[in-house]
Amino acid sequence: MGKKKKRSREETEPELAAEQTKSLDGDSKKKKTKTKNPNADKEMTRSVSTVSIALPGSIIDNAQSLELATRLAGQIARAATIFRIDEVVVFENRRGSGNDSAVNNSSGGDESGAAFLIRILQYLETPQYLRKSLFPKHGNLRYVGMLPPLDAPHHLRKHEWAPFREGVTLKEKSPHVKGTMVDVGLSQNVVVDQVLDPGVRVTVAMGSDRNLESDLPRQVVSSSKPREEAGMYWGYRVRYASNISSVFHECPFQGGYDYLIGTSEHGLVINSSELKLPSFRHLLIAFGGLAGLEECTEADNEYKGKNVRDAFNIYLNTCPHQGSRTIRTEEAMFISLQYFQEPINRAVRRT
Ligand SMILES: C[S@@+](CC[C@H](N)C(=O)[O-])C[C@H]1O[C@@H](n2cnc3c(N)ncnc32)[C@H](O)[C@@H]1O
Repeated sequence: MGKKKKRSREETEPELAAEQTKSLDGDSKKKKTKTKNPNADKEMTRSVSTVSIALPGSIIDNAQSLELATRLAGQIARAATIFRIDEVVVFENRRGSGNDSAVNNSSGGDESGAAFLIRILQYLETPQYLRKSLFPKHGNLRYVGMLPPLDAPHHLRKHEWAPFREGVTLKEKSPHVKGTMVDVGLSQNVVVDQVLDPGVRVTVAMGSDRNLESDLPRQVVSSSKPREEAGMYWGYRVRYASNISSVFHECPFQGGYDYLIGTSEHGLVINSSELKLPSFRHLLIAFGGLAGLEECTEADNEYKGKNVRDAFNIYLNTCPHQGSRTIRTEEAMFISLQYFQEPINRAVRRT
């Protein structure tokens, strides 16, 4: 990592922070975050339902160049955003997997496919105006500039007003009020009422006062608030898992995932209009890599020797009439997330 300390959205949220640190630094010791968004803990107990996706980082290892690996990560970020995914879990799916990737880190060493994918996914999810403060320079970010932007609702332009804005806390003190100055990507910084360390990503409720000259402090809120209060899609979080069983067991949402879907060409064929998902709080949809989810469960001690179907509530083929012998993971994500859209909407409406 570079000199500047990055505090991403995950680092302000404890469970996610620990996993994130593990993957990017190659250090399995959970790092204690000195400062965090004080409202972030509440987020895990909210009543909104969430949809997570999981995919293996090894799909990056098959890309033949850094540019192609970057494009692939960009497609995954686009799919997650288009389909309003709340959490992307990137897992390892090979024994001893790690540094067999074609992607290099800034110090010239290898970065695993999972670490690479996490970095790009997080970078793209971060509003443009915050990237410089939150992401130290890194060799593997070389081609991100050529990717299409996510254009998510929280990626606001300088002139746009919205009830919430993502921001980064600053060192600079407010001359008049106790609190913290935050850069929310407007022509002037705003003040929030909490005292926070610099370099923390926060979600700010902008309130009704549009006068940026005013010292009226704004409030730091949970990043799930825009969705709960205004129904706005507010981006995805990224989590690292060391194998597929950790994807399931280390769920950051209270109560864990309550419905697990596996996708495969060997899955059940059910017409999307007839698929009845149960009401859920936290749904997870898993995708496999080159050799499918079978390979992922086979590499995991908990599922070794078992039928891959036992790991999921339902195992589905979402593209039964495929013309190509193989559908790639990134293609399957678009196909499957479109397939699940209506069944998910029906299930959420029943909740
Ligand atoms: C290259 S494919 C792996 C091929 C493997 N034989 C399989 O299980 O589908 C990579 C991933 O794309 C997804 N996928 C591919 N074809 C699919 C299909 N027809 N229906 C649902 N998912 C599919 C699955 O998540 C799969 O693990």
